[in-house]
Amino acid sequence: LDNGLGRTPPMGWNSWNHFQCSINEKLIRETANSMVSTGLSSLGYKYINIDDCWGESNRDSQGNLVPKVSTFPSGIKSLADYVHGKGLKLGIYSDAGTQTCSKTMPGSLGHEEQDANTFASWGVDYLKYDNCNNQNANLKGRYKNMSRALLKSGRSIFFSLCEWGQEDPATWAGSVGNSWRTTGDIEDSWDSMTSRADLNDIWASYAGPGGWNDPDMLEVGNGGMTIEEYRSHFSIWALAKVPILQLQNFCFFFLNIDKKSMKPVQAPLLIGCDVRFMSNETLAILSNSEVIAVNQDELGVQGKKVKSNSNLEVWAGPLSGGKVAVVLWNRGSSQASITVDFADIGLNSSSVVGARDLWKVAYIMYNNFLFFFLSHQHSTTSAKGKLTATTASHASKMYVLTPK
Ligand code: GLA
Repeated sequence: LDNGLGRTPPMGWNSWNHFQCSINEKLIRETANSMVSTGLSSLGYKYINIDDCWGESNRDSQGNLVPKVSTFPSGIKSLADYVHGKGLKLGIYSDAGTQTCSKTMPGSLGHEEQDANTFASWGVDYLKYDNCNNQNANLKGRYKNMSRALLKSGRSIFFSLCEWGQEDPATWAGSVGNSWRTTGDIEDSWDSMTSRADLNDIWASYAGPGGWNDPDMLEVGNGGMTIEEYRSHFSIWALAKVPILQLQNFCFFFLNIDKKSMKPVQAPLLIGCDVRFMSNETLAILSNSEVIAVNQDELGVQGKKVKSNSNLEVWAGPLSGGKVAVVLWNRGSSQASITVDFADIGLNSSSVVGARDLWKVAYIMYNNFLFFFLSHQHSTTSAKGKLTATTASHASKMYVLTPK
């Protein structure tokens, strides 16, 4: 959508998967604080998105949506002001139906302009627009109505379509929204994650600055997959230029390493979650700035699967400056070596490249602290014509290739 937003995929946090309907303004404020104090916001995680259940069950006498008095007593405007004061952005949620999916509050069907104006007046920056209780009314029409209303509202609001890939949104939503779900809801399992990666891959050619395919949230760290599987999950989501948004079970202690002294720049901070659920590896994945940089590359071309042979896959896509991002992904059940031929990824078959390994990490201990702090120790080697790496089952290697 040509509204100046989403020139790279959005990054941030969303309340649904971890908190569901148990949300309130204190949680949102604390999350905003932590995004900043942990350094995550400077890595690009900017959106603080409130999902379902933020509103009263009925509109007011003028037909306006009303923030739930018991949980959001200060209102959304004051929350938006707070979040903006931290240099972050606030997202909200509604539904292209008569009620939201939780059925605890009204949807925006038939109230598109009024609600878009309300969101704009509150200073909202992002709208996730769901598809429940839709009365079987025309799907494209319902999403177009809200898109138009947001454009008319006078505020730039990122528009995220959540119609679960029902009517091939990639083919028409480019002029309607800034991202669109290409799949049903993800689950925290290898099968769910890989199938969403493949379903999303079909639509690669439709993505670009202003409009992104969305194979649903990240499940990194939620416990249903191995660390290697999560690393593959994050690598592919980054390469595919999809939103890195719904971080769940996300503890905010950190990890802001001074490169010279190898000591943390800030004290660790912990809020709102149980540190037992958090691992150093999870943090290592979500904070890998060079993998994030692939996702946020200004060229904005979705990387895709370029080769698959007995579950040994090569995914790749161009980056700005003539670079190429590559993921060698072993989806088989035993360790294997995977080769990428440069001719398959848009490079000359005799070209020499610097190959930067994006997943080399090192751990250091600080002050005998409970936690390990972590630093990525990327390394660059040289390769000519092709690159081969041994990859464990379900693991992946990720490189940025720079032609010499
Ligand atoms: C749907 C969406 C979820 C979440 C819930 C809220 O299931 O797919 O992401 O927004 O509704 O009720």
